[in-house]
Amino acid sequence: MQLSNRITHITGGGSDGWDVFYKARRMVGEGQPVIELTIGEHDISTDPVILSAMDKAAKGGHTGYAMVPGIQSLRENVAKRIEERTGVETTFENIMITPGGQAALFAAHLAVCDEGETALYLDPYYATYPGTIRGIGAVATAVQTHAEDAFQPRAEDIAAKAKGAASLLINTPNNPTGTVYSRETLEGIAQVCKDHDLWLISDEVYDTQVWEGTHLSPRALPDMAERTLVVGSMSKSHAMTGSRVGWICGPKDAIENLVNLATHTTYGVAGFIQDAADFALNQGQDLEDKIAEPFRRRRLIAKDILDGQNTVGLIPAQGAMYIMLDIRATGLSGEDFANRLLDEHLIAVMPGESFGQSAAGHVRVAMTVDDESFARALTQLCEFAAKIA
Ligand SMILES: Cc1ncc(COP(=O)(O)O)c(C=O)c1O
Repeated sequence: MQLSNRITHITGGGSDGWDVFYKARRMVGEGQPVIELTIGEHDISTDPVILSAMDKAAKGGHTGYAMVPGIQSLRENVAKRIEERTGVETTFENIMITPGGQAALFAAHLAVCDEGETALYLDPYYATYPGTIRGIGAVATAVQTHAEDAFQPRAEDIAAKAKGAASLLINTPNNPTGTVYSRETLEGIAQVCKDHDLWLISDEVYDTQVWEGTHLSPRALPDMAERTLVVGSMSKSHAMTGSRVGWICGPKDAIENLVNLATHTTYGVAGFIQDAADFALNQGQDLEDKIAEPFRRRRLIAKDILDGQNTVGLIPAQGAMYIMLDIRATGLSGEDFANRLLDEHLIAVMPGESFGQSAAGHVRVAMTVDDESFARALTQLCEFAAKIA
């Protein structure tokens, strides 16, 4: 039987540079001691205090259908967190709880793009972006950013593709580049959105992982709250990747319509998971800082190692749990470099090409192993690069 075009075209086909990741996973499965610096998964599990709250909620009976928009106290808690951090008035009516940031990205695009409309996103990009857009039937159109700008997007490049588009998706702090968009960048983006009547979908799932500069939510810029949908998640901030809990923050009427969508798709998020998320948010910044701390530390380790050599370039690592390395001096593509590093040194990193063409000749290193293994792997990576260059 024929499947729909929509579903069979989600990935877009072709090699997407993820082969290295799957090869590394196979090698690990065969018992080889590969150091995996690939995906954005913490090297710690969800904190036991959060798990206790989850257990208590489940055993206390919160196992039935939960309210589709999210439980009231979590919606209020998320709204409070956003208002405190951005200064923009936000109530529970601006929030819908989703099964993680990914479901929020999908729902946000479905809310603002009609079939066949153009949805813009920035290259390099988080791996699911183009597939998410294709999945809702819109046309995924990439706007390139440039290594020489440390991957800060240029407003004029976005404007050049904005005519007739319905939305623009951005992500700061950024995966895969580690770039935190500056106020100037975000003001430029906001202006393009207003000039071209675009919705802005702002993926802020790394908002607690900022090492340099400050995170600015574009929803806080003048006249942007009415055209911005913010995607948030407990995955990275609270090491709750497997719990699948996140949110969309946006105008009240957008949220009302998104709740209709959720009623016909996810039917909400498990109540005991939401209770645990609510508990986690109540722990405040201390818990978030504790979870972000290893990445803050490892980014300094990386800076030290990279400062001590001159083959591999470090894109200023301002935020998120990754560093992006420029390996163009080796003459290899990111894909060839990553493959050889894996084969010859059992170190797995992601080729820049997995995240789009703007990151060709780069590799993304996730800072997700213990400090000592991280330092050893990075030192070996630099030595390997120097030998080839
Ligand atoms: C930029 C970005 N957005 C969204 C997500 C999705 O996160 P989740 O669905 O776990 O909340 C990720 C996960 O790695 C990400 O890196």
